[in-house]
Amino acid sequence: MLKRISTLVVAGLTAAALAACGTGGSGGSGGTEGGGSGGDSIVMGFSQVGAESGWRTANTKSVQEAAKQAGITLRFSDAQQKQENQIKAIRSYIQQKVDVIAFSPVVESGWDTVLKEAKDANIPVILTDRAVDSADTSLYKSFLGSDFVEEGKKAGQWLVEEYKDSSETVNIVELQGTTGSAPANDRKAGFAEVIGADQKFKIVASQTGDFTRAKGKEVMDAFLKAQPDIDVLYAHNDDMGLGAIEAIEGAGKVPGKDIKIITVDAVKDGMQALADGKINYIVECSPLLGPQLMDLAKKVVAGESVPARVVTEETTFTQEQAKEALPSRQY
Ligand code: AHR
Repeated sequence: MLKRISTLVVAGLTAAALAACGTGGSGGSGGTEGGGSGGDSIVMGFSQVGAESGWRTANTKSVQEAAKQAGITLRFSDAQQKQENQIKAIRSYIQQKVDVIAFSPVVESGWDTVLKEAKDANIPVILTDRAVDSADTSLYKSFLGSDFVEEGKKAGQWLVEEYKDSSETVNIVELQGTTGSAPANDRKAGFAEVIGADQKFKIVASQTGDFTRAKGKEVMDAFLKAQPDIDVLYAHNDDMGLGAIEAIEGAGKVPGKDIKIITVDAVKDGMQALADGKINYIVECSPLLGPQLMDLAKKVVAGESVPARVVTEETTFTQEQAKEALPSRQY
């Protein structure tokens, strides 16, 4: 039986947590409520990481549209890349007695206490996009999202193939995603595993750019000053890669030629830069998780069993493939 929500206002919540509770907003850092009237429809509390990238914007849109389509009432909050905001939002969803909680954890660790609180309140939790490192996997019902290690491996495989006929050292700089996040940890690990098989590949600098364009530019500026001979940039997402392109051009170098660039995501801006020859290869990470998330939510609320892990299907793009895919790209 569905729980009823009496009020959206929970005393003592911070502004960030309260952003989870508004009605009819337009997203961003505010809250939205879509789907049914809240009467008999499923109520989902969703804590989003933030609005740090084009990928994230597309993911938020996918979740909000899919909730509406599925008749699920969505209580949406934007944590602005802060774990404490996500914990507050989850606690507020528990107090509101929502039917199901979904969230994309900004970092991997530190979730056991709040997940235990949700479990004790009999509210099922679905992880979406990013994983947690909790040893107790009974704290959540399912994890829907990409295989980030695989994405890192695909990036490494392209590089190995690209330099297969060269015996010279390849100097690589790496722009990591948010420190402690699953995609940053896993994309780094997968890439390192593949290129580690050949001594000629050297990561000469690796630093976080927090998945944002501005930070990508700033860190790439510093890399260019400190490293005289960069052959390749591996950026954990398109946005950081796009920021880095500005820095490379500002330094009088040609992105895609003087410095080869590999990124992850395949959002429209990234795909355009790939088609324009400024990026050399993109590993896709799909943000369109909304419909699958709503299916999982309906099942867990109905008490049906769901797979513990649902892996998103993804591809890769060369410059030629980007030109073909761009006109019909959804995000
Ligand atoms: O968790 C997915 C990652 O988060 C995307 O690759 C990145 O763009 C986003 O910020």
